[in-house]
Amino acid sequence: MNIVPTIIVIFGGTGDLTWRKLMPSLFDLHRDERMPKQFAIIGVGRTPCSDAKLRERFLAGVKRFSRKGMAKSADWNGFARHVTYQQGDYSDPATYSNLEKSCAKLEKDWKMKATRIFHMATPPALFGVIPKMLTDAGLNRDRAHVRLVVEKPIGHDLDSARKLNRTLTESFHESQIFRIDHYLGKETVQNILAFRFANPLFEPIWNRRYVDYVTLTVAETVGVEERGGYYDHAGALRDMVQSHLLQLLCLVAMEPMVSFNADEIRNKKVDVLHAVCPIRVGSVNECAVRGQYGIGRLDGRPVRGYRREDDISPHSPTETYAALKLFIDNWRWQGVPFYLRTGKRMARQVSEVAIQFRAAPHQSFPPESGRDWHPSCLVLSIQPEEGITLCFQAKYPGRRMLLRPVEMRFNYEESFGVPSPDAYETLLRDVMDNDPTLFVRADMVEAAWRLLMPVLEGWANDRPRGFPNYAAGSWGPKAADELLGRDGHFWRPSA
Ligand code: BG6
Repeated sequence: MNIVPTIIVIFGGTGDLTWRKLMPSLFDLHRDERMPKQFAIIGVGRTPCSDAKLRERFLAGVKRFSRKGMAKSADWNGFARHVTYQQGDYSDPATYSNLEKSCAKLEKDWKMKATRIFHMATPPALFGVIPKMLTDAGLNRDRAHVRLVVEKPIGHDLDSARKLNRTLTESFHESQIFRIDHYLGKETVQNILAFRFANPLFEPIWNRRYVDYVTLTVAETVGVEERGGYYDHAGALRDMVQSHLLQLLCLVAMEPMVSFNADEIRNKKVDVLHAVCPIRVGSVNECAVRGQYGIGRLDGRPVRGYRREDDISPHSPTETYAALKLFIDNWRWQGVPFYLRTGKRMARQVSEVAIQFRAAPHQSFPPESGRDWHPSCLVLSIQPEEGITLCFQAKYPGRRMLLRPVEMRFNYEESFGVPSPDAYETLLRDVMDNDPTLFVRADMVEAAWRLLMPVLEGWANDRPRGFPNYAAGSWGPKAADELLGRDGHFWRPSA
C-alpha cells in the first residue's frame, strides 16, 4: 500500500466518465486495499450538488459499472467519507483558491505533504483552461507532488494537439502529465510486451521473414450511445484509430526495449509511428476505407442507423467505421502490411491482433492432404475473450496424411484464476505511484496525428458517397474486405 497521502481532484466530478469509470475503479482499488491509507477525492463541477448527493450518484455508478459488483454498505461508507464536492466555475479563480484551501487543510490534518492529482474528466474544450487556472493559482508548482491527468481526445488534429500539448507543458512539466489511453491499462494489452519479450521462442520469427501480414481489429456492437454530440465531430478515425489502434500497433511492431524504463518503452513505441510509411493525400482511397452504419439487426433486434441516433445530423458524413493498410519502413517489417479496422455496431464485440505467418516455402504433402490448409496464425485476444491462440496444422487421425487446422489456447481466467483489474484501476493506481509507462507522451500523440492527417484531409475534401454503407450488425463495408482481398489477405475474425 502506498503510504504517501493523496488528494485526487476530479474536474468533471458530476460527469459521465467519473460516474462510469473513475469512481467505480477508485472504489474497487479501495476494496482491494490498494488506495493510500490517507486519501481524499474532491469532485469539482459547475452543477450545484451536495456531498451526500454526489456520493449517492457515485454509489449508483458503482452498482452498475464496478467490476466487483454491489457494494457492502460498510465498504462503501468507509470509502464515501473520503469523497467531497466543490461547486465552481472552471474559469473562476475562486474555484482554484478554494481548492488550494481544501488541499492545505487536508495536508495540515495529515501533518504531511500530499500527492495532488488533478484529473481532467471534462469536455476537451476545458483542457486548455484548467491547467492555466491551476498555474495562476500556483497549484502546479511542486513538481514532485503535483500531477495532471488528461483524458482523450488530445486535440482534433495535429495542429490542435500541438497547441494543447504546448498549453499543458507551459503549465506542467512533461513528467507531471499523464495522458490516458485506457487500452494501455488492459491486462491483455500489457501482455503483448510480456508475450513478445519474455519468450525468446517468438521474437526470432516476429519479422518480415516469417510474418505475411497482421490484422488489428477493434469491433464494437455498441453505437454512439449518449455521446452523439462528441462523436459526430470525431468519427472512428479520431475516436479509436488515433489512440487505441495505433497504440496496439506500436506494441505489436516495436523493437525490444533495453530495460523496463518508462521512457525506454515509450521511445521504442514512438519509433514505430515514425517508421510508418506516410500516406499521400492523393492515394488515401488505396489504403483507407470508411463506413457508416445504417439500419440493421443485432442480437435479433432491429437497430436504427447512425443518422437516426440522438444528437446526430440526419445527413452526417461522419464515419463509424475505419480501416487502414499501413506499412512500416524498417528492417523488421519492410513489405509486411498491417491492416487496422474499427467500427461501431458491428456483428460482434471483439478486439484482437492476428499475426498471419507465411506459408511453408515448399509443400511436400500430397495436394489432397490439405483441403482446409491455412498458414499458421497467432491471435492475441484482447477482449472480450482474454488470451492467446496459436492456430496451426495437425494430422487428422487415420491412415492417410490429412492436415486439419487446430488451436492451442491460453486463457487468462483458466490459467490464473484471478479476475483482471479494470484498465482504469491500473492507470489510476499508476498515477498515484508516479509511473508513466502506460501513459501517452506528447511526441507520441503528435506522431499519431501526423500519420493520420492525410486521411483526415483526404476524407474531409471528398464527401463520402453511399453512406450508410454497412448494415448495423454486419462486419463493415465491402470495400474493407476488398482492401485485403486485393492482396490475397483476409480479416480475422472473418465474417
Ligand atoms: C473510447 C471511445 O475511447 O473507447 C469509445 O471513445 C469506445 O467510442 C471505447 O466505445 C471502447 O473502449 P472499450 O474498453 O469498451 O473497448
